[in-house]
Amino acid sequence: MYTGREQTQAKHFILKRYLQVLAFKVLTFQDITFVDGFSGPWETKTDDFRDSSFMIAISVLQDAQKKIFEARGVRRRIRCFFSESDAQAHAVLREAVAPFDKPDAFFEIRTYGGQFEDAVAEIQEFIGGSFPLIFIDPTGWTGYPFDKIKILFDHPRCEVLINFMFDFINRFVSSDDPNTVDSLNPILGGPGWRDRLDVALPRGLAVERLFRDTLRNVGNFRYVVSTKIDKATADRPHFFLAYGTKSADGLKAFRDIEYNASREHARNRANAQERQRELKSRTSDLFAGHQAGVQEETIDEIVDTQKANADRELLSILLARGKMPFSEVVGLLLEPHILRETNVKDICVALANAGKIENTWGGGRRKPQADSAIILKPNV
Ligand SMILES: C[S@@+](CC[C@H](N)C(=O)[O-])C[C@H]1O[C@@H](n2cnc3c(N)ncnc32)[C@H](O)[C@@H]1O
Repeated sequence: MYTGREQTQAKHFILKRYLQVLAFKVLTFQDITFVDGFSGPWETKTDDFRDSSFMIAISVLQDAQKKIFEARGVRRRIRCFFSESDAQAHAVLREAVAPFDKPDAFFEIRTYGGQFEDAVAEIQEFIGGSFPLIFIDPTGWTGYPFDKIKILFDHPRCEVLINFMFDFINRFVSSDDPNTVDSLNPILGGPGWRDRLDVALPRGLAVERLFRDTLRNVGNFRYVVSTKIDKATADRPHFFLAYGTKSADGLKAFRDIEYNASREHARNRANAQERQRELKSRTSDLFAGHQAGVQEETIDEIVDTQKANADRELLSILLARGKMPFSEVVGLLLEPHILRETNVKDICVALANAGKIENTWGGGRRKPQADSAIILKPNV
């Protein structure tokens, strides 16, 4: 159902896994409101909308609610808010989700036919005291001005996933047309954003970076990271999925999900490229099967490079600070580097084996735990 839409597949993979992991964690202590600001349906290929973000969310959240009830005997309230500006699409959306709106079973759905930014007050009231998970998946870069929507992030606990449409935005970031420049103000911190770009980065990537920094500030997020999703049949980014969280656990979970999604996307891209080659030559490439393995390996090579950078960074942080708990090291290294907690454990073990840091977590096959002290050896 995702043939030719491998990027959407990667986006839905991340959304699904993210909701599975996060919803389950959050529901142990709080009710959830999932907000899908740009719901669709949009380019779906199924009759039951199982390839659309709103139906993926409904099915994962229903399942999480059931599992929490079975495990803990508590029925948490789940609310879903779906906004869609296209009148026809909204009518389809409203009808598709109606059977799942069961307030008596603590599962409530509200749809809004209009612009996401105009629904903010209604969404805020709908969220009440619950934990908001906000998904913003536009077709361009307008429709979610931070000044208008930032109140939604103003909860002690809150998470956001935003599809930053890199390929599209990248085509316009060097434009001097005043209207184009102004149209990016709402997500880049206001007028003058061109002066705030990191000149060491290519323009497009500098804009993506400024976007994340802006999101971190306006939403008071502790961490904002992004996952690059490449085009299926070309070696360049299609979009970045930016993730903002106020919790270190959220960051850890997201990096795990990202790793699995990147490997799966690499496999799907290899298949899409094989199909494209076949179409062009009308002959099947007998060796194409190896391609997927090659691309998945590339993901692990990226991890190795990131590990080497993180290794150096950890040593310089320790030179300044001397010692810190492992949990803090994880937060510091996972935001700038595409790594998982397991990689950071391996980095610490390797540094201890090389005599650069103390082994405070014990010998054998043990690895550092959250409260293990990471201490620089005096001679380093
Ligand atoms: C990329 S599609 C969403 C796809 C969907 N999230 C999914 O993954 O299945 C964007 C949708 O947002 C709608 N849209 C565009 N501008 C909007 C706005 N300002 N507010 C709400 N919806 C909007 C479009 O009509 C379209 O259906």
